[in-house]
Amino acid sequence: MTQPQVCIAGATGYLGSRLVAQLRARSIPVRAILKDRNCETDQCRMNALGATLAFVDASLIGSYSEALSGAEVAISCMASGNVHVDSTNDFWAIDRDANIRFGLEAVCAGAKHVILVATFEGRDSRKLTEFSDAKEGAVDAIGAACRQAGAAFTVIRPTAYFSDLTNRAFDSVQKKGTYTVIGDGSCRINPIDGDDVAVFITDCISDPKQAGREHQIGGPETFTFREIGLLAAEVIGLPYPLKVRSIPLWPLRVLAAMAGMAGCALRKSRRSAAILKWMIYSSTHDAVAVTCGTHRLYDEFCSKRDAVRPAV
Ligand SMILES: NC(=O)c1ccc[n+]([C@@H]2O[C@H](COP(=O)([O-])OP(=O)(O)OC[C@H]3O[C@@H](n4cnc5c(N)ncnc54)[C@H](OP(=O)(O)O)[C@@H]3O)[C@@H](O)[C@H]2O)c1
Repeated sequence: MTQPQVCIAGATGYLGSRLVAQLRARSIPVRAILKDRNCETDQCRMNALGATLAFVDASLIGSYSEALSGAEVAISCMASGNVHVDSTNDFWAIDRDANIRFGLEAVCAGAKHVILVATFEGRDSRKLTEFSDAKEGAVDAIGAACRQAGAAFTVIRPTAYFSDLTNRAFDSVQKKGTYTVIGDGSCRINPIDGDDVAVFITDCISDPKQAGREHQIGGPETFTFREIGLLAAEVIGLPYPLKVRSIPLWPLRVLAAMAGMAGCALRKSRRSAAILKWMIYSSTHDAVAVTCGTHRLYDEFCSKRDAVRPAV
């Protein structure tokens, strides 16, 4: 069977690079879109996986048409960094506008299947935070273009990646011996490993029953936010009970309201207000999705711990 040519935007990120590896492991030809022509590390990584390369810096509003030429499947894992960004690379510019450009140009280039990675809570929280609304704007626009062109449109909505939890929870427990939750930390989540999401997306390409739908997906285990810190402490082997700090919600709400008011004049403040509101939303709502994958957070934390421990 001939494998479809796949083009990926955001190929160098946490999920994107795992997806390139998974597709290549199944001998699927991949064109990886990179932002930076001068980053040798990214180019070497993608070359080593056997991907061909294309370069589009979305903040420069370049065209994707060359990168997409011949692609039957177009996938976007593109997202803005959200910290230290300006108006050309914030979530309106990248998560919404660049993703829309990519999706629409994919359809024009003749792609038969467009896959967009969005967020678990996006649909429910879009009225509450502009961060979610920006991402959902891309879902709406690409969905409409695909329907008109008769192309399949698949939306992947993962809960949260292990990367986020290892970076924030594990590092904080390891470096400071403390863990911080927003609110009381009692909301539940089943986070998912990037490799498991990559397998799921790759399956969507070959399985017509999975394509053309929305999928909310999470990992095999569910935790409260508080339990995630306790798990990190257990793996690290903290000699004393973990100190869990709680950030009350009301100061965050006040800050978000103030930033929102300043946001009438300043895009930067509007952006901060949206991120704060999204943080409040995701800390006060469960994010438990259909389970998929096999990777456990315990093992992820162990490998993170062992990576920094000197070999004996
Ligand atoms: N993190 C989570 O827990 C989570 C949960 C649910 C859904 N998601 C969604 O999953 C998707 C992938 O997330 P991730 O954590 O893998 O993101 P990530 O690691 O931050 O990767 C983002 C990718 O977008 C690229 N990018 C950013 N700005 C660009 C620009 N101006 N031009 C071209 N490319 C640009 C980055 O390129 P560089 O590497 O060159 O910067 C990188 O390849 C996103 O849509 C995200 O919203 C994430």
